[in-house]
Amino acid sequence: MDKTIKPIESIRGEIEVPGDKSISHRAVFLGGISRGKTEAHNFLEAEDCLHSVSAFRAMGIEISLKEKTIIINGAGLRGLKKPEKALYLGNSGTTMRILPGILAGQNFEATLTGDESLNKRPMARIVEPLSKMGVSISSRDARGLPPLVVKGGPVKPVEYDTKAASAQVKSCVLFAGLYPAGETVLREACQSRDHTERMLEFFGAQIKKEKLFTKVNGNQELNGRDFFIPGDISSAAFFMVAACMLEGSDITIREVGLNPTRMGLADVLESMGADIQIKRAKKAIEPYGDIRIRFAPLKGTTVEKEKIPLLIDEIPVLAVLAASAEGETCIKGAGELRVKETDRIFSISENLKRLGAEITSRGENLIIKGSGRRFRKSRLESFADHRTAMAMSVAALLADGECTIKNIDCVNTSFPGFFDMLGYLKKV
Ligand code: S3P
Repeated sequence: MDKTIKPIESIRGEIEVPGDKSISHRAVFLGGISRGKTEAHNFLEAEDCLHSVSAFRAMGIEISLKEKTIIINGAGLRGLKKPEKALYLGNSGTTMRILPGILAGQNFEATLTGDESLNKRPMARIVEPLSKMGVSISSRDARGLPPLVVKGGPVKPVEYDTKAASAQVKSCVLFAGLYPAGETVLREACQSRDHTERMLEFFGAQIKKEKLFTKVNGNQELNGRDFFIPGDISSAAFFMVAACMLEGSDITIREVGLNPTRMGLADVLESMGADIQIKRAKKAIEPYGDIRIRFAPLKGTTVEKEKIPLLIDEIPVLAVLAASAEGETCIKGAGELRVKETDRIFSISENLKRLGAEITSRGENLIIKGSGRRFRKSRLESFADHRTAMAMSVAALLADGECTIKNIDCVNTSFPGFFDMLGYLKKV
């Protein structure tokens, strides 16, 4: 389906965005391999997380999901059952990259496959550390493309340095590290999101975090837990940017995740001059609170490479904002965008050019010359990538006429209801 969006003056109102995607996946992973019941509230009922649910159901785990509450009857660390057929994971890179760490410790072989986009994404980054841990894992070809075949068995602890900062790779290794007796040590070049570490600790794993090091001691059972999944800051990002761009806007996003390893966009917006306030902040296993954003004129900025993992999923919409701000923005070291749901350096560049913005990519860097003006009305492409579709919908709000975004069904990957929420904020 295509979507035509009319430009508007401002957005106003209070919203709650759906639950965090990364935390929802991990609720299923941890709940499935813990002993007893896990109950998580505000679970994200979007396609990606539902693929994690169906994979665990296919491995014998009883899961009920009603009105955003997920209840999982865990089978213990080694209690998963051999699925009858290949596990189909749709578009979910998080499931494809983390689940093999759990399959490593089971006593069966399983095949993991995905949609056209997922089956083109590189998995060598997890095949390498798992192979070092003695896990039998093979991919379709030498580039490590899915389908992956993982044969569970004895796992060896490892000391491993991740090449690119990746929470998915880190999580895969930490989950595999739950199986052998002894310590698995993971070192990152720079900090990536730490949901796995927080949740492993909460579920009772023996884990130590020291800045860029994480150490986990295996062979300990985990216990099911109850918790609240905050709203996804990566989904909130689209409205945060829209409010920053549209004069007269004033919005509040309630109960959204404030985990410092996910706050990169808020920091960058502040460095551009945004008016952001955090209210009613609550400490919890995953901290959350309300974010209020009001329009303020913004100027360009520089985002350094080590900050990229803290806002990796927000770069498409940040690029839209940069194009509307005054002055130049340079986003450094964003090469990982080439291997997301689509090549996002290409999709951002192509769409922003159609909108009349000046953008160049040099190696891993994106340079955007902000015009401080409205965008040119145009036909935009989602490239079947949820975040590209939503980022371009935000750009359309600031165009000088109607924009059409092609193929927007992909928003269901992470944010069903996105267009309804946008419509609500326009009317308030
Ligand atoms: C995720 C980590 C990030 C992010 C993805 C979700 C996670 O990927 O882009 O949407 O839940 O661990 P990388 O770890 O590849 O950076």
